[in-house]
Amino acid sequence: MQYTLKTFCIGLATIGHLFAGSVVVAADEGEYQGNAKRGKKLYIENVCHTCHGRDALTPLLPGYPKLAGQDEKYLVRQVIDIRDGKRTNDMTGTMKSFTQGLKDKEIADIAAWIASLSICAKPADNKKDDKGEKNL
Ligand code: HEC
Repeated sequence: MQYTLKTFCIGLATIGHLFAGSVVVAADEGEYQGNAKRGKKLYIENVCHTCHGRDALTPLLPGYPKLAGQDEKYLVRQVIDIRDGKRTNDMTGTMKSFTQGLKDKEIADIAAWIASLSICAKPADNKKDDKGEKNL
C-alpha cells in the first residue's frame, strides 16, 4: 500500500512537471501566467495560511479545504468567484473578506504556487516551513 501510494505520487509529480508553466489564466488586464514565487509571498501576506496551513495541506479546522496540488485554473476560478460573491454557501463567508483586496493577477500568482505543491507531502514534514516556523 505504502509502495503503491509512493509510486502514484511519483507519477503525479512527473505529470505535474510536464504541465508546469503551461497554464495561462484570463485576468482583469488580459492573459496572464501566474508567478508561483510571488504567489508564495502573497499567500502569507493575505493570511491564507492561517486557515489553509503554510503548506496549503494542513487546514485549521475540519471542513476547511486542502488546496495543495489543486488545478491552477480551478483555483483561480474559485477564489475569484468567492471574492465576487458568485460562490456562496454556509462556509464561503469565512474566507470572503480575505479576498476582497486581491487583484486577478495576484490570485493567479497564489494559484500558481498552490498548484505547484505536492498533494503527497506527509503532515509530519509540514509542521514547520523552510524557516523553521510553525505551520499555522
Ligand atoms: C478564515 C479562514 C480562511 C482564510 C483566511 C482563507 N480561506 Fe480559503 N477557504 C476557507 C473556507 C472555510 C473555504 C470553503 C469555502 C466554501 O465552501 O465555499 C475556503 C475555500 C477556499 C478555496 C476553494 C477550494 C476548493 O476546493 O474549491 C480556495 C482556492 C481558497 N480557499 C484559497 C484561499 C486563499 C488564496 C486565501 C488567502 C487569500 C484564503 N483561502 C483565505 C477559509 C479561509
